[in-house]
Amino acid sequence: MTEQIEHPKNMAFWDQTFANRAWGQYPPEELIRFVARTFGKVPDRSEISFLEVGCGPGANIWYLCREGYRVSGIDGSQTAINQAKNRLQSERLLHETSAVDLQQGDFSMLPWADEAFDAVVDIEAVYANEMSVIVSCIAEIHRVLKCGGVFFGKMFGIQTAGYGTGRMIEENTYVDPSVGPCAGFGISHFFSEAELRKLFSSFSRLSFDWVHRTDHEGTVEVFEWLLTATK
Ligand SMILES: C[S@@+](CC[C@H](N)C(=O)[O-])C[C@H]1O[C@@H](n2cnc3c(N)ncnc32)[C@H](O)[C@@H]1O
Repeated sequence: MTEQIEHPKNMAFWDQTFANRAWGQYPPEELIRFVARTFGKVPDRSEISFLEVGCGPGANIWYLCREGYRVSGIDGSQTAINQAKNRLQSERLLHETSAVDLQQGDFSMLPWADEAFDAVVDIEAVYANEMSVIVSCIAEIHRVLKCGGVFFGKMFGIQTAGYGTGRMIEENTYVDPSVGPCAGFGISHFFSEAELRKLFSSFSRLSFDWVHRTDHEGTVEVFEWLLTATK
């Protein structure tokens, strides 16, 4: 384990990861379903503003831009932000520059005004932190959502392989789980439903679904919460 992996916010670790390996380029079907169900009938998508916290190299940003929404994203990795911008540029999705705003930074301190967004999404990014960062990030998500705005998150549950392995640094948070989807990715927090209910108690209409699947010929169990919540 290196010093960088132990950095509380994990940023240098993720920057190195994106510099050294290719990352997924396409959004998960659960995000596509959430977007279609929530905003599919809106007549003018350019009036709907999304924020993705922990956008990485932009798989979900790319999708939201292609669908015509206003899109902002933040990630701790400058390498990832550059990769996301390059992809949008090369696919001519940056022509309307005011509609896309990608920034490098820590998502526990969001650089946007109160009530700026109709929707905020977290696709397996907030989990990669210690609880103090997770708590601040959720408070920030609440702050930047409009009243009636919606959060959608996909996060690992305690039922996921690797939970309980690696070095435990606080309840449900492990550095370098030895197996499962978080192995090799530094700090990982695995959520229980009770914990998510408490963390999102300032929101209303919490709705829990989940994906429970296996990987690698049934040898790796993955449990991902699909949480929607309204401000
Ligand atoms: C597993 S990747 C997911 C990336 C993207 N959401 C996707 O679906 O491809 C986790 C991302 O969260 C970012 N991240 C983790 N902690 C962060 C923090 N405190 N502030 C900003 N970004 C963070 C990492 O840099 C990384 O890009």
